[in-house]
Amino acid sequence: MEWAKITVDVEPAQSEAILGRMLELGAGGVEEIDPGSFASLQAELPSELRLEGDLPSKHQLIAYWPVAKAEQVKLQLKELPGVLGVRSQRVTDAKWLKTNTIGFKELFIGNRWVVFPQKGGGRSDSGRIPIYLAPGQAFGTGLHPTTQLVLEFLEEIPVAEKALDAGTGSGILAIALGKLGCADITACDLDPVAVEVAKQNLEQNGIKAQVLQVDPRKLTRRGFSLITANILAEVISELAPAFSRLAKPGGNLIASGIIAHKAEEVEKDLRKVGYSIVDRKEKENWVALLARLGEGHQ
Ligand SMILES: C[S@@+](CC[C@H](N)C(=O)[O-])C[C@H]1O[C@@H](n2cnc3c(N)ncnc32)[C@H](O)[C@@H]1O
Repeated sequence: MEWAKITVDVEPAQSEAILGRMLELGAGGVEEIDPGSFASLQAELPSELRLEGDLPSKHQLIAYWPVAKAEQVKLQLKELPGVLGVRSQRVTDAKWLKTNTIGFKELFIGNRWVVFPQKGGGRSDSGRIPIYLAPGQAFGTGLHPTTQLVLEFLEEIPVAEKALDAGTGSGILAIALGKLGCADITACDLDPVAVEVAKQNLEQNGIKAQVLQVDPRKLTRRGFSLITANILAEVISELAPAFSRLAKPGGNLIASGIIAHKAEEVEKDLRKVGYSIVDRKEKENWVALLARLGEGHQ
């Protein structure tokens, strides 16, 4: 899929209002670049993660929209007080994920979250729950819609007593679970790099979790009241029987990373193993499902 990366040069004093408007216009997240802090962040990064080319010299807000919506969004942004310039650039999914391993100062997600790309790298006077993520190689900076959909679901459901984050990547969802008050968290991933990055990020956020390099099908722990799984549609379907074995009866599953046209198939596979579909969210052609295991299910 092709995306439009829209960069808005702003008067710093108007930045917050413009950022709010960008979220209202459907941006999943907004990167805020303040030239001073951006330069110091760049200096701390390993060379392979630094942005190429000139460093931004202006205060900027950056967000992504599907190409079809970009022109209308640009027109609306140009009208706002404090907007000095608006431009857009087409990017592919892969390029978007790569550029987004770094570069933002803070990222607002849903109603309750703010992600900062380094330890202590920002204030949380927005009243939002801060998540600190070191720029790294593991998936999960918070910028991808699939991650955002899970964070939005987590705002709406009761705090889990015992949670599993399957496919933890950077650990972002395990951190979020801990920040909401879950005290018993297991996180797992097949990728050894993700496991290391997740451990570091969890520690940086002061969250305790058991992080394992394992496929959820091999886990021996059981009785999870919540499972989060932001993995692809096919993988969720394959893992569905394991999720239903690992979950406590009545337990919630938030399944994300599902491309919209495969959502029905995944719903069917979850129903087969005892889940009912309670809610569904969609963003930019990605779907996340909230499913609940039947009370009588063992
Ligand atoms: C899309 S990323 C999600 C990262 C993070 N949880 C987030 O929401 O941003 C999916 C992760 O699942 C991992 N993964 C894929 N298949 C897996 C499996 N069968 N068991 C465990 N982890 C798996 C990948 O290595 C990757 O880190």
